[in-house]
Amino acid sequence: MQAMGEAVVSRAVAHLASLAAQPSHGDLDAAARCRALSEPVPEHGTTLEPLLDLLFDDLIPRSFTTAGPGYLAYIPGGGVYPAALADFIADTTNRFTGIRAAAPALVQLEATALDWLRDWMQFPATTRGLFTTGGSMATFNAILCARERHLGVDIRRGTMYTSSQAHHCVEKSAKLAGVAHDRVRLIPVDAQHRMRVDALVDAVAADRAAGLTPFMVVSSAGTTNTGAVDPLDAIADVAAREGLWHHVDGAYGACFHLVPDLRPLLAGLPRADSLTLDPHKGMFLPYGTGALLVRDGEALRAVHASTAGYLPENQSEFYDPAQYGPDLSRGFPGLRVWLTLKMFGAARYRAALAEKRALAVWAADQVAAIPGIVLDAAPQLSLFAFHVQAQDLATENAATHAVIDAVTARGKVMLTGCMVDGRALARVCVLSFRTRRAEVELAVTQLREETARIRVAMGLSEGPS
Ligand SMILES: Cc1ncc(COP(=O)(O)O)c(C=O)c1O
Repeated sequence: MQAMGEAVVSRAVAHLASLAAQPSHGDLDAAARCRALSEPVPEHGTTLEPLLDLLFDDLIPRSFTTAGPGYLAYIPGGGVYPAALADFIADTTNRFTGIRAAAPALVQLEATALDWLRDWMQFPATTRGLFTTGGSMATFNAILCARERHLGVDIRRGTMYTSSQAHHCVEKSAKLAGVAHDRVRLIPVDAQHRMRVDALVDAVAADRAAGLTPFMVVSSAGTTNTGAVDPLDAIADVAAREGLWHHVDGAYGACFHLVPDLRPLLAGLPRADSLTLDPHKGMFLPYGTGALLVRDGEALRAVHASTAGYLPENQSEFYDPAQYGPDLSRGFPGLRVWLTLKMFGAARYRAALAEKRALAVWAADQVAAIPGIVLDAAPQLSLFAFHVQAQDLATENAATHAVIDAVTARGKVMLTGCMVDGRALARVCVLSFRTRRAEVELAVTQLREETARIRVAMGLSEGPS
């Protein structure tokens, strides 16, 4: 066991040490490899070393380098090392943390970690939470709370509201929660891609007039496309007036609430009935760490509390995961959050998040000054979006895609784009803890060079004289 552990740690550390040198966008042409990996179950075992070779030398490089410093695509996070150690401890000790009675002190660590998130988000003491596999599952559980509280068993009449820029997990979760697509309203957005409150009010009124039962609004604290933060305060007012459950999807953006100076960017967030946040994004933890906070913890318990003859009696003074979430047997997600925060402390998190925001603001200014680039979305948090200007939309979209691909192909920085109302946008999201000034400067330089090159190649500019 010692030797195997050391072999794994040594490979993992070497991998992390070489992250900056790895291509930001791995070799993804893996179809032949994928076919070869489909094999019958091995009858006899093998040793660890060749499997580590396969993983580290062959398979892992065939992926986006999501942990690398140049990963400015989608919403990064990085994946801090202590969290992996926490998983190792959790998996080797394999204690049961689904019910409190089986490991009360360990479950308390998870409860404490949830309380830390609660305090950062300025939610009240009545809050209860849940660690989930990600933001999608957090949002799903929030919809269950709202549905149970406002609709009971009569769910077909219920209508919910989110913006046209909301993450697709809102509609997906609604469906999982029994709220069909024809009961989800996608509210239009303003020029900054934020939900239009007047349109929300109108949609709620129209549904009431049609005899339906508006029950929930899901706003975004940082959209995936452009990083837009909906007017959370104004939406909270509408929700209070209309008796709607207000859920805030802060999977990307809620973590910025840790930084007191940045709280005004998220004004109104602490008024939400529930909040999704993704520690695997803004707290830099590895994938598989989402979280939900519910202001009235009893609403979450009402959805999930249950008992059985083979389970110990429930109690309520202490947190009990199976009473607040759908899982019984589960991993120990709280340990990765707890151990990491204990080791790093809140101050380092605040500093890192403030730094990422400042880097994005700086980079957006530089990119906006590149000839031929139009900044469509300045960073409301740490994400901005832009396009290449041309004579018509189709050419603009082609040029924008070409710039994203060209920068990414250079292997140091990975960017992704998105489509918003038929327009292709390039995005830069600075959120990996490994992304520092050097990578952001490189991204700006490469964007400047590739934009100039592509504009000439596409006849959009005459090039340097
Ligand atoms: C704004 C937003 N909401 C929700 C999600 C869904 O979270 P997850 O991928 O953790 O399920 C994401 C990211 O994927 C996101 O960026």
